[in-house]
Amino acid sequence: MALLIHGGSPGRDERLLALFIEPLRSLDELLDRLPIADHTTLMGGGSNARVYEFNYAATTYVVKFVRAGTALVDGHDATTLSRKADQIAWIHQYCPRLAGRIAAPILVYRGDDGCALVMHHEAGYPLIQLLKDANSPAEFFDVLAPILTDLIEHGYSTSTISAASGSFARMHPDRIERRLKVIRDNLDRRLLDGAVRINGRSCPGLEDVLADLRARPALLAALDPPVLHFPVHGDLNAGNLFRRENTGKGGYFMLDPRGIVEHWDAMYDMGKLLFSLAGLHAGMHSGFAVQRCTAGIEVKVRSGQTHVFESAADRFPEFLASLPAFGRLIEGDPHWLLRLHMTTAMHMLAEVACRFSDTKPRTTPANRGHAAQAELATGLYAMGVLSAEHLLRLDDARLLSGTLTRPNWQEPGP
Ligand SMILES: Nc1ncnc2c1ncn2[C@@H]1O[C@H](COP(=O)(O)OP(=O)(O)O)[C@@H](O)[C@H]1O
Ligand SMILES: [Mg+2]
Repeated sequence: MALLIHGGSPGRDERLLALFIEPLRSLDELLDRLPIADHTTLMGGGSNARVYEFNYAATTYVVKFVRAGTALVDGHDATTLSRKADQIAWIHQYCPRLAGRIAAPILVYRGDDGCALVMHHEAGYPLIQLLKDANSPAEFFDVLAPILTDLIEHGYSTSTISAASGSFARMHPDRIERRLKVIRDNLDRRLLDGAVRINGRSCPGLEDVLADLRARPALLAALDPPVLHFPVHGDLNAGNLFRRENTGKGGYFMLDPRGIVEHWDAMYDMGKLLFSLAGLHAGMHSGFAVQRCTAGIEVKVRSGQTHVFESAADRFPEFLASLPAFGRLIEGDPHWLLRLHMTTAMHMLAEVACRFSDTKPRTTPANRGHAAQAELATGLYAMGVLSAEHLLRLDDARLLSGTLTRPNWQEPGP
């Protein structure tokens, strides 16, 4: 058990830190000592962590905590939360230009009973909101361009190592397989068996999708990244990337890195951004309309996956390719576009189990509790299986041709 005080500013955080002079014995004791009686629960994230905002001594703080043994999937556990603090410390040490770009803990509690991070509350709004009432994705891309350039130049490309063969499989199908039991225990069996058509297409079940991929060594070899990059984030979905309030284009910050202290594929993060544009963001906010029909089921994001979101998703690879810093990042990486699309499909499938691990009370317009979790998981499953199937039905020559378009898994909605 350990409590680490990472910093905080002497004047601003003095009163909060003074609450922790006496030794601390448990996570409950930490929560008892924090002045969180009037907290607000922040619901924006997708993990099982509890995130509370509270005010103390004229400062707004956030405490994020996970109790040991409450996670159903890797990545939602207390150890991973504590690794997030390690990753942020790495960023401070090795990418000092990004230090102010990632919300860092002031206090870190690590114990057998769980982990907690206490941070300042950062004022901003998710970058993806720029797509909400827009007529085109132009402003979103305008704001994202200097951010990605900054992250690439001062982060991803500051340190690279050559990637071992099998890196793609380790990062993607292996991760989905680790989570299969949670999906099997909770999702409609007929979807997993591939017994229903989804959006008019006959789709294999998840295990068959993974088996198809694993049976294609040339494709898997092409999917391996040539190098791994400094781990700038690892979960760069649009809900973790914020624009600072009242600042110009340069004002941004990130929250909630994956909790990795090893080199990683930068395309993993680009895939998270594309996943957000392709349905994660709107789906998590509005839920998914799932309709049974004679031939199977029709699934779409209930609302918000507009033409602007679809167009942003369609244009995302071309946007990346237009950034000089990205051009330098992918030198010697001929299959980055294939890897981007396949990574995005894998993120969709890996997210399915997370919907059951996140136990924050969720409601959608049609469901609550486990039924709401199942609705979100079904939407993500449909998204992932349709996207992966779209890619896997192409032969290797086509997939390696370098001219892939994004798999469209649904028609744009209202
Ligand atoms: N330091 C912070 N400042 C401002 N908002 C925060 C902060 N930490 C978390 N949040 C809000 O809480 C949400 C969930 O936090 P996050 O750490 O991303 O949890 P999860 O692990 O569930 O994704 C974020 O999307 C954001 O809206
Ligand atoms: Mg998050």
